[in-house]
Amino acid sequence: MGVKAYAVGGVVRDYFLQRPCTDIDVVCVGSGIELAKAAAASAGGHTKVSVYQNFGTAAFGYRYNNIDWQIEFVGARKESYRRESRKPIVEDGTLEDDQNRRDFTVNAMAMSLNEETWGELVDPFGGIRDLNEGLLRTPLDPDITFSDDPLRMMRAVRFASQLGFRIEDKTFEAIGRNKERIEIVSKERIATELNKIIMSPRPSVGFKLLELSGLLKLIFPELSKLKGIETVEGRGHKDNFYHTMEVLDHVAEKSDNMWLRWAALLHDIGKPYTKRYDERIGWTFHGHEAKGSHMVKRLFKNLHLPLNGKERYVEKLVMLHMRPIILSEDIVTDSAVRRLLFEAGDDIEDLMTLCEADITSKNEVKVKRFMENFSTVRRKLVELEEKDRIRNFQPPVGGEEIMRIFGIPPCHEIGIIKDRIKDAILDGKIPNEREAAVKMMYEIAAELGLKAVNG
Ligand code: CTP
Repeated sequence: MGVKAYAVGGVVRDYFLQRPCTDIDVVCVGSGIELAKAAAASAGGHTKVSVYQNFGTAAFGYRYNNIDWQIEFVGARKESYRRESRKPIVEDGTLEDDQNRRDFTVNAMAMSLNEETWGELVDPFGGIRDLNEGLLRTPLDPDITFSDDPLRMMRAVRFASQLGFRIEDKTFEAIGRNKERIEIVSKERIATELNKIIMSPRPSVGFKLLELSGLLKLIFPELSKLKGIETVEGRGHKDNFYHTMEVLDHVAEKSDNMWLRWAALLHDIGKPYTKRYDERIGWTFHGHEAKGSHMVKRLFKNLHLPLNGKERYVEKLVMLHMRPIILSEDIVTDSAVRRLLFEAGDDIEDLMTLCEADITSKNEVKVKRFMENFSTVRRKLVELEEKDRIRNFQPPVGGEEIMRIFGIPPCHEIGIIKDRIKDAILDGKIPNEREAAVKMMYEIAAELGLKAVNG
């Protein structure tokens, strides 16, 4: 077509960083949509092109070398590059105009795709130098780049966390000046960046930058509330924000489960609301796990995270995160371990990972004692699960059955019978078996004055 075209943005950056990348953005001087159609046709007749007329972009998927590539085409423009922009775009720019309006120098490099100049790098802002130095810097005055799209302030933090880069001072100061503008950005886009920060190798890097820049208070006030130390009579408590950061990093070392990382981020979120000072024992946060757990759903809603069951997993881990610790401070009884297994179910491993990560004491003797106690808990968990299969506990006698045998309608007594059988199993008084449970059912029923009419 005689059109000048370039790979641009993330794919060029990742190529030099040797990071895997399967999303290829192509910018051309002319119509991106026409070029996409022609490219798809040459790739094979069946390639389906998705056209986004309003954004002036078109994209298609292409399988090559057993990899599914996603290739998106756009015409160069003078206006800021924003995938989600609602304004129709005008493709009247040069390559340089287009590069000018991108977010960071390392994301503004282009590589020629035309035959004569194949692979030639066009790097007007020193993107390669910044890549080598690990520096995030805007191509234009940062005040302009950030007001074009305020989400870029979060992207700066996210790339810093994800790539281990530093945000240039001038750029970071501009975040401080422009932070309030984050309010015009959709919650979904913010959540996407938060999730990417959470999934970075050391998520604390990103959250500390969010805190330092003042963004955190605006997008996630509950988390920023954890920061600070109050002192009474010379006694302070630990700074729960920095503690949370340590716990989050510990969990990130152990697991790529994003929701377990969320649980780590939120495990102490109830502390500011339950904080008390007691003259005898100092600072306490009694009930912070229940308070925090109750906050989870609202937080998910506010942040526009999906409410598809993951919130219940996070609620559960936040609710239970003190249990193994309390357990291991005491004598580790079988009955307490069975109850923990019963409540945690299949998430018991994740819960133990969270609890071990929660030990951030600098006192080595204490840490050693905790860890030893945790391994006792873990050993008992395995032993008791083998013996009693509590993990996916199903009541050995059901409510329907009780109603039928004693000829009673749904009533309070059924709950009593079921609960007492469950407690007896968890306390190890009877085995988790049907025969023992049925026997016990008749005993309790007799106490309650019920008579069998069937069976
Ligand atoms: N871009 C931008 N401003 C934004 C979003 C994107 O300038 N708010 C530009 C950047 O040049 C970026 C390119 O669009 O490199 C592609 O954006 P995107 O696919 O969102 O991000 P990537 O940089 O590819 O990185 P990642 O895939 O990790 O999100």
